[in-house]
Amino acid sequence: MSFVKKSIDNNKFKNLSICVLGLGYVGLPLVIEFSKKFRVIGYDKNKNRIKSLKKGIDFNNDINFKINKNISFTSNKIDIKNCKVFIIAVPTPIKKNFHPDLNPIKSASETVGKIIKKGDIVIFESTVYPGCTENDCVPIISHFSSLTPNSDFFYGYSPERINPGDKKHTLVKIKKVVSASNTKTLNFISSLYGSIIKAGIYKAKTIRIAEAAKVIENTQRDLNIAFMNELSKIFFHLDIDTKEVLKAANTKWNFLNFKPGLVGGHCIGVDPYYLTHISKKNGYMPSFVISGRTINNNMPTFIVGRILRLLKKNKINRKINAFIAGLTFKEDVSDLRNSKVFEIINLLLKKNIKVTIFDPLIDKSDLPHHCKKLFKDNIFYKKLNTDIFILAVSHKNMLNKINNNINDIKFNNKNLILVDLTSKLSVKADITF
Ligand SMILES: NC(=O)c1ccc[n+]([C@@H]2O[C@H](COP(=O)([O-])OP(=O)(O)OC[C@H]3O[C@@H](n4cnc5c(N)ncnc54)[C@H](O)[C@@H]3O)[C@@H](O)[C@H]2O)c1
Repeated sequence: MSFVKKSIDNNKFKNLSICVLGLGYVGLPLVIEFSKKFRVIGYDKNKNRIKSLKKGIDFNNDINFKINKNISFTSNKIDIKNCKVFIIAVPTPIKKNFHPDLNPIKSASETVGKIIKKGDIVIFESTVYPGCTENDCVPIISHFSSLTPNSDFFYGYSPERINPGDKKHTLVKIKKVVSASNTKTLNFISSLYGSIIKAGIYKAKTIRIAEAAKVIENTQRDLNIAFMNELSKIFFHLDIDTKEVLKAANTKWNFLNFKPGLVGGHCIGVDPYYLTHISKKNGYMPSFVISGRTINNNMPTFIVGRILRLLKKNKINRKINAFIAGLTFKEDVSDLRNSKVFEIINLLLKKNIKVTIFDPLIDKSDLPHHCKKLFKDNIFYKKLNTDIFILAVSHKNMLNKINNNINDIKFNNKNLILVDLTSKLSVKADITF
């Protein structure tokens, strides 16, 4: 522990080199911020990602960065073997059966296990369930290194809380929760992050507490949105405008300002399954959390059901066209992962509706194969020819253009069914949440 002790005692991290494993939405900003103070090596198993990062290009379009002399990128384990601190920020997705897929985090733990040395520190940032760091990951590092945890090497957990597309709450402006295998390591990790985070550090009492805190932050959001989605179904059946109800209810000081909507992406719709998994494994069936997930997962079916009902009501039975604007899992990001818009597309296609899709922020090559031919690179809103117009995601620029042209779109398509899943259209839609 001499390295850690020296660093803490002198409150200096001279000659410290950090390795960040996994250079996605979470890992890359860490590399950039830490490189302002330390030498940082970004390691990713994806060679194409490394190639583009070396040129200063982030294909996620999430961050503008310039390579400085403190940064290097690699996909070769040998290059990271002299690092003292390893920060793991790899994905923690779910499998088709909604169980946690720990393969990436286990594989990153194996990588670290093969090169870690006595006195080194490993910090996990990926979102996991309570107990995952100590029960699933650290034993792998120990196995491959033949080193004893908390004696030969030390570890901690510090969850990332960034919000994709949010330029205000960036890494350094969000309070950082840290936790560790012992007090010295906790102080070290706390000072390390404290050197870059402006919003302050919170020392959690245990690693399991820090893991649990992260996973419930996103589960809380998922459940609040699920409640709104349930309300939108109730009010649809009562023929009441949900948006107006929420507007009225929001005038109370303690009414929480959530809105109904599609829940996709890499975090909110995924993390609750980590919690339900570990809860079930330990003998408690978390039916409230599961129920929230079910409601949110069923929203595409609810929306398409309403579109079909309206088509039937309007007695439209010719070949129908639908145009969908916005494909990503949320506004102002290019991330298509787990976007619920694809479920809407598939449900419409199943009903033999001809679908055209558009999103100015995405790269066509990232689309699922069957959607590539539905994609339009460019559109001229005024000239749109469609029976159904669905605003699925409200990217700022696209939304402005749609709102500027919405009256022409309505005028040119006489029996248009207007669907607004964002509550941001400037005119009243036929279908909203
Ligand atoms: N995206 C977010 O806004 C966000 C916010 C908070 C927390 N998180 C959590 O942070 C973690 C990372 O998420 P992300 O969005 O940055 O993921 P990402 O998919 O954007 O990036 C992960 C990177 O890790 C690489 N990778 C995968 N397996 C690897 C391995 N074994 N070794 C080295 N590199 C490997 C991938 O190639 C990829 O470049 C997840 O647990 C996620 O839940 C994400």
